[in-house]
This record gives sequence, C-alpha cells and structure tokens, in this order.
Amino acid sequence: MTHTVTVAGQEQPFPAPADRPILESALRENRWLPHACSQGTCGTCKIRVLAGEVEHGQPDEAVLSADERAAGLALACQASPRTDVTVAPVADVGPEGPRHPLRDHSGTVVELADIARHTRRLVVELDEPMEFSAGQYAELIVPGAGVGRQYSMANPPSEARTLEFHVKWVEGGLATDGWIFAGLRPGDRIELRGPLGQFAMLRAQEEPAILIGGGTGLAPLKAIVRHALANDRVP
Ligand code: FES
Repeated sequence: MTHTVTVAGQEQPFPAPADRPILESALRENRWLPHACSQGTCGTCKIRVLAGEVEHGQPDEAVLSADERAAGLALACQASPRTDVTVAPVADVGPEGPRHPLRDHSGTVVELADIARHTRRLVVELDEPMEFSAGQYAELIVPGAGVGRQYSMANPPSEARTLEFHVKWVEGGLATDGWIFAGLRPGDRIELRGPLGQFAMLRAQEEPAILIGGGTGLAPLKAIVRHALANDRVP
C-alpha cells in the first residue's frame, strides 16, 4: 500500500510505500529531508508527525526516546507511513542539501587493492552513472544478507560511473570479514544504492576549508578535495 507524505511548508506531497522508510521515499522522489547515517543512530532525520500515523520500527531509545515518540517525533530513516502523513523536519531543511535522487545501482568490481593495514580500496564500475555530491556515500548490499553497509565515495562526482570506496576490515564484520576481505574478486557483480548523506561542500567559498579526518574517514574528504581542485575551488 502506498500513502502520501506532505512536508510542512511544501505544497507537493510525495508517494510513500507503507513498507519503506519515509526518508527513503523522499530521497527516491528527489525530495530533501535532513539525514546523515540513515541507520537510526544519529538522530539527524528526526521529524515531527503533524498528522496521520507512522510505524516507528525499532528505534534506539538513546536516539528516539519513548517520551519523544509519545510527543509525536519519529526518525524519518526508520519510520514508515501507516496512513497519509504530514511531517515537519526538526532540523532546518535549508535550501542547500545535496539534491540527487536515490537510486538502486549495479556494477562490476574492477579493482580491489590493499592500501593500508586492514584497509582496501574497492573500485566499482557502475552500469549507469550515479549523480552525487562530493562527500556523500552509498550503501553496498551484502550478497545473501539483504543488508547494506555504507561507504563514502572517494572519487569526485565527475567520475560518476567509477566509484572508489575505502573499506576498513572489521573482525567478524558481515561486509568485510565475510565478503570484501574474503570472497570478493575483480569481475564480481555488486548491488548498491545511493547517494545518501548530507556531508558535502555545496557552494563556492573564498575562505579556505579545513578538512579533518583519518583512516577511511579520509575518503569523503578526498572526494571533496579532488572536486574542488578540478573546479578551481568551486564545488
Ligand atoms: Fe541518522 Fe536517521 S537516525 S539519519
């Protein structure tokens, strides 16, 4: 069943299947809602439900408390609509969120290389290009598990068909110990979806930007730096 979601202050509602989180429905319709992790762990996507009902899923009490749920708050990345709903983001929506539709993609592994201790560069050639802003991430679908793991693109948006990810090995990790550091090989097919996330450098600025990161956290910074250099500081 599909309902409609109206964001307060925006005229056009968008369709939202009952079995899909509101955030995902919004992004697939290229409608911006604030979000960061899309996993229910950061709280950035908190919305106030002004009308209608949502199914909350199982939000972490530390991120969305029972009191907040009782007060009409929900996590857009976890909650799905039970009826037509009207919602208002708690965070400022602003005019500047990355505006690229969320899409499912398929691709082929073209490179898998160890670039640091317990860290691999994974390069995927997509069948179709993915629009994204430097700094955003994609969710790689772990084969046979039906779950996704999130990795930032380390390449600039101009390389929209060849995505580079930096993956850190996690002991017992479903995507790492059980897949990317185990059986995955060049030539293998990969399913993913993206782009996601609001970490991005979205406007030209005269002042210097200071980017601080480490380990695989350098990946989105590398994308931003390469993009800024290629565009003479203009993202
Ligand atoms: Fe992080 Fe929803 S809790 S985006």
